[in-house]
Amino acid sequence: MQISSPVTPGQVSFLLGYIIILLIWVYSELLQNWKRKISGANSACSNLGKAREDAKTHLLEGGLVENSPGTSGFSPLRFVCLDKDILVENRSTLRAIVEFGALLLYYYICDRTDLFHESRKNYNRDIFFFLYFLLIIVAALTSFKVHHDRSTLSGKPILYLNRHQTEEWKGWMQVLFLMYHYFAAKEIYNAIRIFIAAYVWMTGFGNFSYYYVRKDFSFGRFAQMMWRLNFFVAFCCIVLNNHYMLYYICPMHTFFTLLVYVALGFLNKYNHLGSVIAIKFAVCFLVIVLIWEVPGVFDVVWSPFRFLLGYVDPSAKTKYPPLHEWQFRAGLDRYIWIVGMIYAFYHPTVERWIEKLEEAEAKRKILIKVSISTVCVVAGYFWYEYVYKLEKYTYNKYHPYTSWIPITIYICLRNITQQFRGYSLTLLSWLGKITLETYISQFHIWLRSGGPDEQPNMLLSLIPNYPMLNFMLTTAIYITVAHRIFQLTNKLKAAFIPSRDDRRLGHNAFAASIACTTLYCLSLLLLNLPRIMGTRPDSPNQYISDHIRM
Ligand SMILES: *[C@@H]1O[C@H](CO)[C@@H](O)[C@H](O)[C@H]1NC(C)=O
Ligand SMILES: *[C@@H]1O[C@H](CO)[C@@H](O)[C@H](O)[C@H]1NC(C)=O
Repeated sequence: MQISSPVTPGQVSFLLGYIIILLIWVYSELLQNWKRKISGANSACSNLGKAREDAKTHLLEGGLVENSPGTSGFSPLRFVCLDKDILVENRSTLRAIVEFGALLLYYYICDRTDLFHESRKNYNRDIFFFLYFLLIIVAALTSFKVHHDRSTLSGKPILYLNRHQTEEWKGWMQVLFLMYHYFAAKEIYNAIRIFIAAYVWMTGFGNFSYYYVRKDFSFGRFAQMMWRLNFFVAFCCIVLNNHYMLYYICPMHTFFTLLVYVALGFLNKYNHLGSVIAIKFAVCFLVIVLIWEVPGVFDVVWSPFRFLLGYVDPSAKTKYPPLHEWQFRAGLDRYIWIVGMIYAFYHPTVERWIEKLEEAEAKRKILIKVSISTVCVVAGYFWYEYVYKLEKYTYNKYHPYTSWIPITIYICLRNITQQFRGYSLTLLSWLGKITLETYISQFHIWLRSGGPDEQPNMLLSLIPNYPMLNFMLTTAIYITVAHRIFQLTNKLKAAFIPSRDDRRLGHNAFAASIACTTLYCLSLLLLNLPRIMGTRPDSPNQYISDHIRM
């Protein structure tokens, strides 16, 4: 097995940390076993004494570089001392960390070693749409569901079904988005831009509704959201030595989520005043116009963040400045999150209006609904003819100002009748819940990028020469793994990020940063050991990779 790039200190830290946690986890499982065996028996003492001895050795071996605070009432200090009760109590957290690490190792093996093969992308419109509609049909046959949720306002059945619907919406877009990557379906480029705009629209919509209605600006909640968005991607960056911007969806959503939080959180006790909200919207627009449309401002604002948001495609022919990718990607959807906020603000009004419409006499109701649909279809047609069909570079210029059109049309048509609002395909909603994980995972265990910061231009091939079988197998593994990562992220979030206890959150953050720093220093030391001892004059990376080659 050969690895394709030099080993970095980050990767060594990860491995060190992983081995330590693995040992502690095994130890905690053993402890639990002993406990079960000797419970009730008086002879317990000697065994426990032995366990204590073990605990001491573990401590000496490096218990300090531990960073896994667990469930309630937990203190990092007691954990560092390998307190038996704490260990047994937090076994499941430890197990989750171990599993998460193992999955990341799988990512590394798939994408950075030559253990598995790679194959070329191949687009065939017939197969592409065949597979897509096959999935939709299967979803419709197996997971069609009629919801009977109550409207919050009047207790009447289904008027407003945001969650099922938005998740389903995310789901079907995500499938096309992923297949677009897998088959390199260049011809639907413009549609993919719309889908991404729709995700950003939902970020504005969902977050605005949440903060506006719940008024919960607590730091714990915010930290949980950030964890959900960035925990997995951060580890991917470390383990695979990539830049954050390679997964541009993540910084983009983080940024827009942050903006919504700031926009609503600032002077939030006046949020009930319509005029204050209007001013906030106006300020959001102004800020975006200032940064993206006034020449020169972008570089001034973002150059301090180059370390985080910079990205250069190593194999691109034309080299853009590092911040170009960020300017381009975030720029495409710079306004649509504000549109999402505006829609969220008017949502209750529209909902009330729809409710009244549903109660109106049949003839008027049908007339109104038919006219709305007609307007939508006609508008959609013109948009399709004059905007969507444009060639991709021209289209991108118009995209920020026109992406709200198809989104609005979709929302109108999707909610047009009461029955239709109530339907959803839960298979697609299920996929819609794990969009973030499927988005990040595709780079490495479905497609293949092959090196740090490389775009995933190849496919992972587990069954060489059988493209369709291979597609089936890799897809099955990929979706399973992505779903598991989703569960683990949430489990670890619950363990490390308390929502209502900022003090504990602070302790955890402090303990984690100490652990990371220690690990990082240790791995720097390890990597430079050969040079320090003067045994190998060449670079430490060379040394390590020579030894890993097996
Ligand atoms: C209409 O549907 C969209 C998604 O399909 C949803 O986000 C939105 O909240 C719905 N609007 C109303 C007024 O129910
Ligand atoms: C805010 O937006 C982010 C990014 O899309 C999302 O993950 C999160 O669930 C949203 N929060 C709420 C409360 O809707």
